[in-house]
Amino acid sequence: MEILRPKGIYFDNAATSLMPREVLEVLIEHYSVKRSNVGRGMHDLGKEVTQKVEEVRGKIQEYFNAYDFYVIFTFNSTFASNILALSYTGPLNSLLISVEEHNSSYLPWFHKARKENAIIDFLKINEKWELDYESLDKESYDVAVITAASNVIGKVNEIKKIADFIVVDGAQLAGHRSIDLDHSNIDAFYFSSHKCLGPYGAGALLIRKEKAKLITPNYLGGGAVKSVTSDNYVLKPLPHGLEPGTPCIAEIIGLGKALEIIKENEKMIESKEKELVKEMHEVFEELNINYYGNTKDNGKLPLFSFNVEGLHYNALALYLNEHNIYVRSGHHCAHLLMDYLGIKGSVRASLHFYNTSEEIQTFKKVLKKVIK
Ligand code: ALA
Repeated sequence: MEILRPKGIYFDNAATSLMPREVLEVLIEHYSVKRSNVGRGMHDLGKEVTQKVEEVRGKIQEYFNAYDFYVIFTFNSTFASNILALSYTGPLNSLLISVEEHNSSYLPWFHKARKENAIIDFLKINEKWELDYESLDKESYDVAVITAASNVIGKVNEIKKIADFIVVDGAQLAGHRSIDLDHSNIDAFYFSSHKCLGPYGAGALLIRKEKAKLITPNYLGGGAVKSVTSDNYVLKPLPHGLEPGTPCIAEIIGLGKALEIIKENEKMIESKEKELVKEMHEVFEELNINYYGNTKDNGKLPLFSFNVEGLHYNALALYLNEHNIYVRSGHHCAHLLMDYLGIKGSVRASLHFYNTSEEIQTFKKVLKKVIK
């Protein structure tokens, strides 16, 4: 596998991962000689492309062991989260949101819960950086929104049966490892292709089949309807009922290829990431910098958010940039968590399996100079 890389040290993989050449080749093939629409028309090209897109649904089910789920193509996690909240017509008298949520998971549900006068509770974090289910007053909620792994802390969360409808944001986890959805407490799950070695503009929303009755699409158009008359319309069932309009065809096929590559290299990725986490942890220990979520847990994702006393996070990120080390700084679109941690922002170095020990050692050398 050849990873296509920009020059410099790319430590911003939690924002967008890099991409293997094989995925780019899939895009080139589609755009150069296979360009056609899906689910419409009888010609050979359209049929071939429709089949390829449908096969990706199967690849996603295989990747997440999600045979009890519908796979709905979306444009990214934010889009999936919004479609889900807009289309959910089940009970919403009480909503639980973890303080680790990305704004794109928090805001659509917060907005809906406010409109429906629902009680909103927040799931906090304990001293081990685990979700503190023990601290909740209520035993169960109508809906809970919990991230599989925070984009700031990187610890993989346990998803307990705390609500009748459990929504999990898989955006950060999915590009590093899978999760067994069929055997989980999860009812809806989403992720983005661009964090999973895939192209931009594709993603998927997975909804447990037995919970599909709680979903009424209210985002309509061609491709999602079975019939239309001047006074009525009949929607297609899921997944197509939630997919109006032409999807990002090449990008979906590219996503399928990317997931195939991750799956084939699962063991290598796991062991490589454990090594990276261990080495980064040692760097922070040596430099006496405490990153958020530091528990010596080497099962965490290889992302590290931190602050250096007396130095603004943006200034530090710019300093690293001057040394061709690319990290993200700021609130990471996780305002709830920033408030909870009592900070305005942080620097985040996020790695993937293709980052190297040499890059980590350069990062250490550069960081050491600035904190002296
Ligand atoms: N959600 C992305 C991040 O964490 C963009 O950087």
